[in-house]
Amino acid sequence: MLSSPCLVSVKSKIKNSKLKIVPPRWRSEIEKILITEEQIARRVKTLARAMEKDFRGRDLVVVSLLNGTVMFLADLIRHLNLPLRLDFIGVSSYGSGTEPGELVFTKELRLDVRGRDVLLIDDILDTGKTMSRVLPKIRALQPRRVKICVLLDKPSRRVEKIRADYVGFTIPDLFVVGYGLDFAERYRNLPFVGVLRPHVYQNF
Ligand code: PRP
Repeated sequence: MLSSPCLVSVKSKIKNSKLKIVPPRWRSEIEKILITEEQIARRVKTLARAMEKDFRGRDLVVVSLLNGTVMFLADLIRHLNLPLRLDFIGVSSYGSGTEPGELVFTKELRLDVRGRDVLLIDDILDTGKTMSRVLPKIRALQPRRVKICVLLDKPSRRVEKIRADYVGFTIPDLFVVGYGLDFAERYRNLPFVGVLRPHVYQNF
């Protein structure tokens, strides 16, 4: 028997609200789920379609910033139906836990990007300080063009004049972790983007 439209909508509401429930294992540390696994999966596919249009026929090098991009990158490039080369730049800010500190490069680019299209990937664009250090390094290698893609954009925190060409989600100034994003190197393995409870970082 077919469900009535009303029943279908009630069922889908229940399903969607369940997706927002923080799994018991994480409930004491994660306040709420900001972006669900399903929302991320849908958005990643949309971004991939847009990139295919923009980079079709180009000699593309995807450059991903370590370590926070691990999940986003893996999902994005498996949906990117284009020939591409992949390389990484290691960059980390050693700050006080909640505030960024000095930027340290831990791995340099190996591939030759001269005359090629570069798609630079990061998990989050926050103050823009990381990108403002990475961009000139890449531009000095004389690529044909550089486009920036970030999973999350926090424009309210920006101090450098940096704009991403592809943005997964624009978010408010919340302490987010998961889907690659960490706090003190933890929480990267959460399949969703969640908001960290203040007691976790305040007592750090
Ligand atoms: C995080 C994040 C971005 C950067 C964004 O890196 O991965 O690269 O901060 O912040 P910004 O716009 O204020 O510069 P982090 O140094 O924490 O390293 P990680 O990727 O290993 O987590």
